[in-house]
Amino acid sequence: MPTQYDDELNLIKVKCENCEKCSLCKTKTHTVFSAGVPNSKIMLIGEAPGYYEDIQGEPFVGKAGQLLDKILGCVGFSRKENIYICNTLKCRPPENRDPLPEEKLACSEYLNAQIEILKPRIILLCGKVAAYSFIDTKLGITKLRGKWFEGPNFSKMMPIFHPSYLLRNDSREKGSPKWLMWQDIKEVRRVYDQMN
Ligand code: URA
Repeated sequence: MPTQYDDELNLIKVKCENCEKCSLCKTKTHTVFSAGVPNSKIMLIGEAPGYYEDIQGEPFVGKAGQLLDKILGCVGFSRKENIYICNTLKCRPPENRDPLPEEKLACSEYLNAQIEILKPRIILLCGKVAAYSFIDTKLGITKLRGKWFEGPNFSKMMPIFHPSYLLRNDSREKGSPKWLMWQDIKEVRRVYDQMN
């Protein structure tokens, strides 16, 4: 469905697709700009495209993405209806290595523009790379997750585990990463429901 943000977002998207500010443009297949609904109250920010995202040009479409969709779906969030999804980096780092500081800096122009145009009320920082892009801390993601921080434009910002971490930790027992993720996503839904 068209939204009032489409023209502005498209300008940034085209700029991003033609970007040569770091070397990742030389190895990418596609730029992975976003998925989901631009005028949603929630924006989820991941790390960077992986193998499948690079091939398909859409964020979170691999195994981790499927798990993420499942978790979001448990509380009624979906990229078709009410969430906007993007990444800290728009191009895949070779072999999925961690983003370099200069790549994050180069790409921050596009992420910041997405935030400024869409002004989400809730920002979910999925994994440590996204969390450290916004929160200046030495704490690990296990300590940061589930806590609310003030984000850009007075948004509420919460770091959450990355689904690929959950894929490596299968337990659903109380206190396990999957259980904690479930608490976090329920809290996000609670706050979302209170917003007008
Ligand atoms: N992991 C991410 O952080 N983002 C994606 O789009 C895919 C996997």
